[in-house]
Amino acid sequence: MSRATLAKHPDEVTRMFDEAADHYDRTNTLLSGGQDRRWRARARAALALQPGETCLDVACGTGVSTEELARSGATVIGVDRSPGMVARGAARSLDLRVGDALQLPFEAAAFDAVTIMFGLRNVVDPGAALREMARVTRPGGRLVVCEFSHPTWEPFRTVYLRYLMGGLPRIANRVSSNPDAYTYLSDTIRAWHDQPSLAALLQEAGWQRVGWRNLTGGIVALHRATAPAHGPGPHSADRHEGPRMEPAV
Ligand SMILES: C[S@@+](CC[C@H](N)C(=O)[O-])C[C@H]1O[C@@H](n2cnc3c(N)ncnc32)[C@H](O)[C@@H]1O
Repeated sequence: MSRATLAKHPDEVTRMFDEAADHYDRTNTLLSGGQDRRWRARARAALALQPGETCLDVACGTGVSTEELARSGATVIGVDRSPGMVARGAARSLDLRVGDALQLPFEAAAFDAVTIMFGLRNVVDPGAALREMARVTRPGGRLVVCEFSHPTWEPFRTVYLRYLMGGLPRIANRVSSNPDAYTYLSDTIRAWHDQPSLAALLQEAGWQRVGWRNLTGGIVALHRATAPAHGPGPHSADRHEGPRMEPAV
């Protein structure tokens, strides 16, 4: 069984997810105590999709996030670098395609909204992925990044870190088709941006009106942003707006 490292070499990451595809959805639901479905539903709500709109779900995996988004009535396409994960989602009757977040196989401004759920942390160059997502979003379109983050209350953070290092790998050992992938999960969560730092990365990538909302005490954060009205590029009137933190929910 393969396990990627914090270097996140794209082929290693893809191989690891190929091998984790069996039982992937069930493992995540077990490890999160059922919270993962709620987090995706909150991401869908934050994206405020309308019937008739188009949405791209980057790093869609088995399509579990794409399926959640499709409940809005919008037309949703999922794209993921792992053929194994995409194949696993075939039974879902969704439009799932194999493709790389760093080189999305879509024209500029093709989507009203774009999201990436639990995927950005796995991409070797998250800033480049955010720029590429801005490219395929229409001017004024929306982005939601749903990703593991950092609990804000210190005692809770301590308990959570203990779970990440101990309980989570033990459970994954029993239920996952690639338990090593869950050691990688713990490592990447601990090394990942905190909320303000990810907001800054979004701004650097050209996204505007950046704000975030914590879920489950900050285990997960939803970052929202808007594509520049003039499309990606250095339009000074569109910049200079600091990130906004919204009340925790
Ligand atoms: C933890 S899964 C998330 C799947 C799904 N969005 C969900 O909510 O469960 C992360 C996914 O990111 C994908 N991924 C990693 N790097 C990628 C890249 N460069 N381009 C596209 N997908 C990528 C992996 O193949 C994997 O399926």
